Amino acid sequence: MINPNTPNDWRKDVKVMFNSDELHARISALASAITAEYPPNTELCVVGILKGSVPFLADLIRYLELPLHVEFMGISSYGDDTKSSGVVQITSDLTKSIEGKDVLVVEDIVDTGLTIQYLKDNLVSRRPKSLKVCTLLDKPSGRKCEVDVDFVGFEIPDAFVIGYGLDFAGKFRNLPFIGTYHGPV
Ligand code: PRP
Repeated sequence: MINPNTPNDWRKDVKVMFNSDELHARISALASAITAEYPPNTELCVVGILKGSVPFLADLIRYLELPLHVEFMGISSYGDDTKSSGVVQITSDLTKSIEGKDVLVVEDIVDTGLTIQYLKDNLVSRRPKSLKVCTLLDKPSGRKCEVDVDFVGFEIPDAFVIGYGLDFAGKFRNLPFIGTYHGPV
């Protein structure tokens, strides 16, 4: 486990926005709201969007009080850049049909909204019983299209965030907190 208080080379480039305790408190509350949204014993299909959602999804499902199974989709919109390219690609698909299923898409961040808009259109065409979206972070200032997000952990200002799944050039996903990156780009 990385201690965010231990000085090292990258630490000076990163400022903590939400520490681990704050993340877990919010995720627990989010999971309660999600659990309450569905009738008891609803079998939920939780779809994590690779790669950024992995730490969030891993913690969220442990707080959800519903029988569920986990699927993943690989989506790429940023490459190694800090700004969205607007180009969305499916890099890996679901392994099971979601027809007639209650589906919850789990994202780390909604920024331009282009990824989630594309995903929603794509998944609705597979005729799920219901389709809802949960994101840990929502950056409304980045929007390039209108999207409905059902569950939001934190609304954040216009900043480049890293950690807890979010990367800069593939790095920092393992940090146990969300921070802003101020280093060389
Ligand atoms: C990030 C993030 C979302 C998307 C949000 O994915 O995980 O999927 O960008 O941005 P948008 O609202 O502007 O479309 P990225 O393509 O960086 O892939 P990664 O999760 O593998 O880092």
